[in-house]
Amino acid sequence: MFPDLKGFVKPGSEEEKLARQIDFSRLPRHVAVIMDGNGRWAEKRSLPRIEGHRAGAKAVQEVVEACGRLGIKYLTLYAFSKENWKRPKREVARLWKLLEDYLRKEDKQLIKNKIRLIVIGQIEAIPPSARRELERVADLTKDCDGLTVVLALNYGGRTEIVDAVKKICAAGEIGRLELDEDSFSRYLYTASLPDPDLLIRTSGEFRISNFLLWQIAYTELWITPVLWPDFRRKHFLQAVVDYQKRERRFGAVHARTTQHA
Ligand code: FPP
Repeated sequence: MFPDLKGFVKPGSEEEKLARQIDFSRLPRHVAVIMDGNGRWAEKRSLPRIEGHRAGAKAVQEVVEACGRLGIKYLTLYAFSKENWKRPKREVARLWKLLEDYLRKEDKQLIKNKIRLIVIGQIEAIPPSARRELERVADLTKDCDGLTVVLALNYGGRTEIVDAVKKICAAGEIGRLELDEDSFSRYLYTASLPDPDLLIRTSGEFRISNFLLWQIAYTELWITPVLWPDFRRKHFLQAVVDYQKRERRFGAVHARTTQHA
C-alpha cells in the first residue's frame, strides 16, 4: 500500500526517490528522536540559542507531518530532559514559552490531521502555564486516531525506572505482582506505547542521553551529523529507508544461519 504523497514529495525530487524505496507494509511503528544541535546551529549564525530552538520547532513540524503522511503511528520527541534545567534560566524559560506558543498555534492543525498528543516525564514539575497548555491540547486530541505524538518533557530514563518502582511499592504490589518485563513496563510512563523501532539522533553525537533507557533495548539507531534545525523530510525518509535495510534479530539468529549451526 502506497499512501497518497501528493503535495508531500515533489515529482522527480530526491524525496520522491527515497519515498519510492520505502516498503509501506514494514514501516517502523514507533520512531523516537533525540533532537540535538539547536544551540550549535544558532552559534554558527551568531544568533542567541533560542533562535536555534525556534528553528528546531519548524523541524518538529516537518517531522510530525512526515510521520502523518507516511502512516507511522507513534513519534516520540525528546524535547526537555531533566538535565536541561541546568541551562541558563533565561534559555529554560524561553524554551517552555516556545513550546506553549507552538501548542497554541498548532492545536487546530493537530485536530485536522487526527494527531493525538501525549506527554511523558515528570509532568507535575513543568511550569504551570506550559502544563495547562499541554493538558488542554492532550485533552482536545485524546480521541484522534492518526499519529500519536509523544513529547518527552522533564524526562529522564533513570527517573522513569525509579518512578515505576515507587509506583509498584506504593500500590502495595510488591510480593503480589508477578514481576516480569511485561508487568514492569506497565508501570513506566510509556505503558500504553509500543517500544520504539527506530531512534534518530541528530548532530552526530553517539549518546543516548538518558532517553527511553528501558524501551530502546532492541531499537535500531540512526545517527546523522545534521543539526536538528536543518533536519528535513529528506533526512527522515533516509532514516526510514536505512532502517528497512537492517536485519532485526532481537538476539536470535537469522533463519539462514540456523541451517549451518
Ligand atoms: C537540544 O539542542 C534541544 C533541546 C534541548 C530542546 C528541543 C526543543 C525544540 C526542538 C523546540 C521546541 C519543541 C517542540 C516540541 C515544539 P541543544 O540546545 O542541546 O543543542 P547543542 O547541543 O548544539 O547546544
